[in-house]
Amino acid sequence: MWRGVWHTHAKIKMVNRNKLLPDKGLDHKLRVYSDITQLIASPENPTPLVRLNRINPNKDFQIYLKLERYNPFGSIKDRIVYEMLKALEIGDKTVVEPSSGNTGIALACVANALGIPIEIVVPERIPDEKKVMLKFLGAKVMEADDALCPLFPTEGARGLVNGLIKSPATKDSYISPNQYENELNVEAHYQTTGPEIWRQTQGKINYFFAGYGTCGTITGVGRYLKEQNPEIKIIGVEPSSPNHKLPGMKRITGLDEEFIPKILDTSVVDDRVEVTDEDAYRTAIELARKDGIPVGPTTGAILHVALHYAKSNRGLAVVISPDDAFKYASFYQDILETETKEIEERKYERT
Ligand SMILES: Cc1ncc(COP(=O)(O)O)c(C=O)c1O
Repeated sequence: MWRGVWHTHAKIKMVNRNKLLPDKGLDHKLRVYSDITQLIASPENPTPLVRLNRINPNKDFQIYLKLERYNPFGSIKDRIVYEMLKALEIGDKTVVEPSSGNTGIALACVANALGIPIEIVVPERIPDEKKVMLKFLGAKVMEADDALCPLFPTEGARGLVNGLIKSPATKDSYISPNQYENELNVEAHYQTTGPEIWRQTQGKINYFFAGYGTCGTITGVGRYLKEQNPEIKIIGVEPSSPNHKLPGMKRITGLDEEFIPKILDTSVVDDRVEVTDEDAYRTAIELARKDGIPVGPTTGAILHVALHYAKSNRGLAVVISPDDAFKYASFYQDILETETKEIEERKYERT
């Protein structure tokens, strides 16, 4: 019964936000909000675009990072979660979702703000920091043997969730937004991330770089930008190996058709580039040390590709930075230890 009451409450809040957003009723200068979900980025309240000056000295190919960590729950996934939850007929059900962490964290926060119970299935190899955050938020966490971006619709994290929402014993208790197949994932980026970038660059953007995960970002932003100017190049970045260490990213090349996220629209993508873990992590560390921006390893991967483009192209580029470095401290530790060893070895060789 109490769930029902909370759900009614949740519906009221969502209707309010809907009314507020289109007529720009929120005063983002004053920054006073009636609940935390109102901080989720929108064209009236965009995430920042920051120019990189030292890691990219090429003045003819300026690179701007779109810092999605400035969403209230810390990542690009905050944008899609509210839209997907709003459309679900949750009733007395528990929301369950497969996630490499960021969608789960955003879902847990929004669900908590709305009084909805939540369970998240994660690949067991995601960083402990993300698992701790999910538990801190009170979400029930289940772990599955899976790729770092849940891969197969019928196995691993997605398979487990599919089982819960489809099997006769549990199907009346669970409901899932299913970010891999939900068009609202694309729509959220088409309505917010794309227009923000277009407006922030005053229509001068020439290149947009993003990773492949559920493919909501590249499809939604790519579609919006191409509609404004078909000349804008959309570049997708993927890990060079299926066994990568880049949570949230998926290798699309070589996947059977049935495993490619259904929401991906390849017609908006001009180029697809592979990146190794090593290049991704090293680029993220270099960015922190040269421009003072602590980003997650997938930003390193995407930026690595943009820096490569900078060597032989001209124009204005926007690189999506899905999240920040802090959730990946344990992953960065390995490469930092290697670096310390290399420095020690070089010292030893000189003496
Ligand atoms: C941390 C993180 N989350 C998600 C994504 C992918 O976004 P989407 O699921 O919209 O494809 C990426 C892509 O690089 C990412 O790095």
